[in-house]
Amino acid sequence: MSDEKRLISALRGKAHPIPPMWLMRQAGRYLPEYRELRSSAKSFLDFCYTPAMAAEVTLQPIRRFHFDAAILFSDILVVPDAMGQTVSFESGEGPRLDPIETPEGVAKLGAFDADKLSPVFETIDRVKSQLPSDVAFIGFCGAPWTVASYMIAGKGTPDQAPARLFAFRHHDAFQQLIDRLVEASVDYLIRQIDAGVEVVQIFDSWAGVLPANEFESWCAKPIQRMVAKLKEQRPQTPVIAFVRGADAQLPGLTRRLNADGYGLDTALDPRWAVAETAPNVCLQGNLDPLSLIAGGAALDREIDLVLEAFRGRPHIFNLGHGILPPTPIENVERLIARVRRG
Ligand code: CP3
Repeated sequence: MSDEKRLISALRGKAHPIPPMWLMRQAGRYLPEYRELRSSAKSFLDFCYTPAMAAEVTLQPIRRFHFDAAILFSDILVVPDAMGQTVSFESGEGPRLDPIETPEGVAKLGAFDADKLSPVFETIDRVKSQLPSDVAFIGFCGAPWTVASYMIAGKGTPDQAPARLFAFRHHDAFQQLIDRLVEASVDYLIRQIDAGVEVVQIFDSWAGVLPANEFESWCAKPIQRMVAKLKEQRPQTPVIAFVRGADAQLPGLTRRLNADGYGLDTALDPRWAVAETAPNVCLQGNLDPLSLIAGGAALDREIDLVLEAFRGRPHIFNLGHGILPPTPIENVERLIARVRRG
């Protein structure tokens, strides 16, 4: 047990004096070496589907910062791509999908074709052989609600209104879409685990817009089903649920999802989360990504507040959402030095 990777032992309930750390979106545009490689790819999806490139950018932040975990470089929208929906990424504008506007659009979706994602599994294989022995390897997928919100709207929206409206108008078809995403996402995560990832994170980035009733149907229940299936089929693999904007629902989620770790978003007060959840539950988060852009004394203060709030708890240090492209590298270095000084 003693040589268990720090991130994994935290997920199994160990409180480390110096928490293991990684950053959401740690492979990305704030890194010059990422931008350089990215500029040689035809498109973002080609980049994700070229194992040599995707493996290289997965490893870049590990080489530079020696984080306690690498996260597979891919995207949550490869799942709709593998269900036959047209997916592309317009530079500077984010994802574009052929929107699903009617129940027929759901019925027309193809079966999830995991073989289409074989470059992702090859990326995992390549990363695995190059990862330092103390660095954990995280795979991921989007949660059904968040992925469905892009599939229906065809793009990112500020309030996910198109998906919410679709769910009111076409409840059964929307339920079918969620069910298909539960199945596809579990299948996809199991293939990632079998290829070599050691932990999986489920991103529900847009859970925060849902009123309680819809939150229950489209967020809590589908993730609960996913975790149950994963625990049944790959019981050794820890699962992190990042339900962004869960707010007051967080304590209830920690009692029923049966995940091993829970990501806290920026807006949650970590002292509240610590007080309201069982002491063995591993919490991940939740430094404000803007403080990491600001740097200096403001950053130091925010880091200390996070460290202090989680002291004595199983904790994985992370941001409350993804690192932003304008983040200065020296601020990331400052963050790491401060967290690791003990
Ligand atoms: O380093 C990592 O964390 C691993 C890679 C990763 C990416 N996307 C790469 C990416 C992960 C874990 C994701 C998850 C993801 N993708 C989420 C959930 C997490 C979150 O941030 O809420 C969501 C909602 C998406 C969908 C998505 N992909 C959007 C909205 C965008 C455009 C916005 C943006 O940041 O540009 C993407 C593109 C994307 N995915 C980029 C990266 C590095 C930027 C594209 C580029 O480099 O050209």
